[in-house]
Amino acid sequence: MSSHGAALPMLSRKCTGLTGEAHVPGDKSISHRSLILGAMCVGETRITGLLEGQDVLDTGRAMRAFGAEVEDLGQGNWRVYGVGVGGFTEPDNVIDCGNSGTGVRLIMGAMATTDMTATFTGDASLNSRPMARVTDPLALLGARAYGRRGGRLPMTIVGAADAAPVQYTVPVPSAQVKSAVLLAALNARGESQVIEREATRDHTERMLAGFGATIETEETAEGRIIRLQGQPELKAQDITVPRDPSSAAFPVCAAIITEGSDVLVPNIGLNPTRAGLFTTLIEMGADLTYENLREEGGEPVADLRAKFSPNLKGIEVPPARAASMIDEYPVLSVVAAFAEGRTEMHGVKELRVKESDRIDAMAKGLRAAGVTVDEGEDWWAVEGRGFGNVTGGATVESRLDHRIAMSFLILGMASEQPMQVDDGGPIATSFPIFESLMGGLGAIIERV
Ligand code: S3P
Repeated sequence: MSSHGAALPMLSRKCTGLTGEAHVPGDKSISHRSLILGAMCVGETRITGLLEGQDVLDTGRAMRAFGAEVEDLGQGNWRVYGVGVGGFTEPDNVIDCGNSGTGVRLIMGAMATTDMTATFTGDASLNSRPMARVTDPLALLGARAYGRRGGRLPMTIVGAADAAPVQYTVPVPSAQVKSAVLLAALNARGESQVIEREATRDHTERMLAGFGATIETEETAEGRIIRLQGQPELKAQDITVPRDPSSAAFPVCAAIITEGSDVLVPNIGLNPTRAGLFTTLIEMGADLTYENLREEGGEPVADLRAKFSPNLKGIEVPPARAASMIDEYPVLSVVAAFAEGRTEMHGVKELRVKESDRIDAMAKGLRAAGVTVDEGEDWWAVEGRGFGNVTGGATVESRLDHRIAMSFLILGMASEQPMQVDDGGPIATSFPIFESLMGGLGAIIERV
């Protein structure tokens, strides 16, 4: 079932010659952070290119509930009038973050050091995900959390009235946890330190610096140490949200596995903490090139050109790369099905606690499509069948998970028989124009 309304079954059929330009929407991670940081600074932040997916819209609604003005100016342009660090007001009602782990975890962090109480909930997927990874460090800053058994939503957070700074080593590779602690530390007295052993996406750090916080990062033998001075006055910004590499992954992978394809995906951020999929595809022998490589807003950006790549080979994806492509393993496993040989993916335990257990969801669906998959708690492997040998012809569950739904629809574009997903509704959380964009390139996607 979709989080809102009836299930939306969708099917994709084999096609050839995906061509044209794929203008994917704004980055989801940066969109959430633009609204939250916009709400935490003083004055007016203007945002261009905001992702208007449901996840981000839910975060915008939440920021209004905490007292910020959030206005949709049309065509991806938004205005946020912030209330300053520590300036949130207590919401009148429960905050519903829908499907979004990023939304709820970052917002919990942002309110945890203000003297107020807020209750959070979400859809069935979000309410089954672990929150202790965020509430444990927030407790060190003085916040108290009362949730369901196992640290699940719905959950009430009582913010700390006068938070002391914290020193915290993030125990799992998670940008959401790191960001929640940093946002909470903004309203603590003095310098906080957050240490991560494996580098995860660093948008919060970059954007905090852009908003005028005093923040520095040091690479050491134990990992990255991030030092943040509490109680800054954040300054309103004009933000242009880059296009999302995690959304770009879908037209790129579709082009690689679909005969006769040549697709340009312009203006994609290649921040090294996000670009692991593209490195992996090139290692597999994909015809993927970076055109017009440049720098924008301090980030490397390129136009990606992806062409049909009939000679893909299976590879071993190292655990050190996992954080930089954590959301891309589902669609990588689809590409791996069309390669010659086995693709092994290691160090990916986090996939089990995403919008769904993504290893289980992909393994079941790939097996139903005729592909052999092996799995362990922290790894999985796909036995590639090579082009023309992936059967397809299955109906799979999307489990309230946008990336599972999109991955199987991409599989159906190159498998012999169509692939159907029981509910494509969740795609709207991150990539509302997926169907029309892929259709515009020549894909055949039907609502059934
Ligand atoms: C995100 C972090 C990642 C990622 C999610 C977005 C973020 O989650 O999977 O889609 O914006 O910080 P984790 O922090 O759970 O790894």
